[in-house]
Amino acid sequence: MKKAIESERQGTEFCRPDFNKRTCVCAFFAVPYTCTTRKDVFRYMITVDISNVWGQLTLADLLAIEKEVADAHAALADGTGEGNEYLGWLNLPVREATDEMKRIQAAAKKIRESSDVFVVVGIGGSYLGSRAAIELLQGTNRNIGKGKGDPQIFFAGNSLSTRHWNELCRLLEDKDFSIAIISKSGTTTEPAIATRALRWMLERKYGTDGARERIFAITDPCKGALRQMAAEEGWETFVIPSNVGGRFSVLTAVGLLPLAVAGIDILELMNGAADAKESYDLRSFENPVWQYAAVRNLLYRSGKATEIFTSFEPGFRMFGAWWQQLFGESEGKDGKGIFPVTAEFTADLHSLGQMIQAGERNIFETMVRFDAPEQKYTIGGDWKNLDGLNYLEGKTLDFVDEKAYLGTVTAHVDGGVPVITMDCGELNPRKVGELFYFLELCCGVSAYILGVNPFNQPGVEMYKRNMFQLLGKPGYEK
Ligand code: PA5
Repeated sequence: MKKAIESERQGTEFCRPDFNKRTCVCAFFAVPYTCTTRKDVFRYMITVDISNVWGQLTLADLLAIEKEVADAHAALADGTGEGNEYLGWLNLPVREATDEMKRIQAAAKKIRESSDVFVVVGIGGSYLGSRAAIELLQGTNRNIGKGKGDPQIFFAGNSLSTRHWNELCRLLEDKDFSIAIISKSGTTTEPAIATRALRWMLERKYGTDGARERIFAITDPCKGALRQMAAEEGWETFVIPSNVGGRFSVLTAVGLLPLAVAGIDILELMNGAADAKESYDLRSFENPVWQYAAVRNLLYRSGKATEIFTSFEPGFRMFGAWWQQLFGESEGKDGKGIFPVTAEFTADLHSLGQMIQAGERNIFETMVRFDAPEQKYTIGGDWKNLDGLNYLEGKTLDFVDEKAYLGTVTAHVDGGVPVITMDCGELNPRKVGELFYFLELCCGVSAYILGVNPFNQPGVEMYKRNMFQLLGKPGYEK
């Protein structure tokens, strides 16, 4: 069986000969598939374990889609697909700090020294990436106890909630703060409303000149209201290149400035993205991008129309939200697309668990794993043992977490839910940069296999038009 597959593959034009020689080719096609060998060979790569989809798909299914995957990857890399005017993100990763990155680092230093609080104003792709990386690397409680030197970071302009707004205003009272206004178009309503108010708060507090030192605008290089405002008011600006769409902009100042303010090494992050750019250009099924993009499309064709993207890390929730926007806005078009849902385990096993286990069988899962942290927590003993937990005495929390993960995968697979596992290795800024680029690449390839333009979002405009009409915005009367 293995032999037949190998000879079938050697005839294809998509495999690079040097990779064909590697043992992992065999490991990949062995069923059940184990990723141990692959990890030795590609030790820096994110590995995608698809051994838990074989109950729903066959190897023949996977091989049959190889040309589609190769064509989709080529269309993306060569810039011949739909939406190719927005492929600037492919070349964002760098190994050395650019002048723009040096300015970002200098601005971040100034903000860290002068501010108790840093407010990031933006919605969708203009805030999800930075929030995702900050929470994943520093935890959901990172703001507690922070202030000048290492400011608290809050996000505004991503809702129209008065309660949320009042909460932020109360929080900013008596605090020194700076803001980054992030909008590619420069005209999005939610951040525009927040910008107006925060700017006035800063001007009242520090005067026009003082406020100017605390306002940073990140927007299109040439057009939009924000670009014009920044020029007129003399705010320092950073660029979202015209050929980079909002949800693909995390490796520009959109993500990098907030991350640098959080004290995260943005050069390391960029190096991780550069690792990904090099590693995942491989044109064969040894590439985890191919595995993920192909398998999710095959599952979709077999009726699995919902993908739940999960992790057992609470700090991953916002990363899931970033992924949800990336895949949702890129693929949900022309009556097609996998519905992307994010969940946090084990918390959501106590809410969504029942639905996943026994609801409509149209779901598959992608579970993202990281190595356990070095600092361990060991469960203690209790002489009364009223809770019956003494059988876990001396075990680490990681040990329990691992068993919960394995138990969940087995339960869900037994319940008819295919599970893809992404093993990311150690969690650090470099890995997060790699993961961003890896998933962006997966998204581009997957959307082209699906047959949609990944880089527009015409559906998002509909609610805006209706809202503008209801609000009486000039030009939207009809
Ligand atoms: O991915 C996208 O392009 C969108 O989700 C935008 O990021 C979002 O609508 C915000 O737009 P803007 O940055 O123009 O304010």
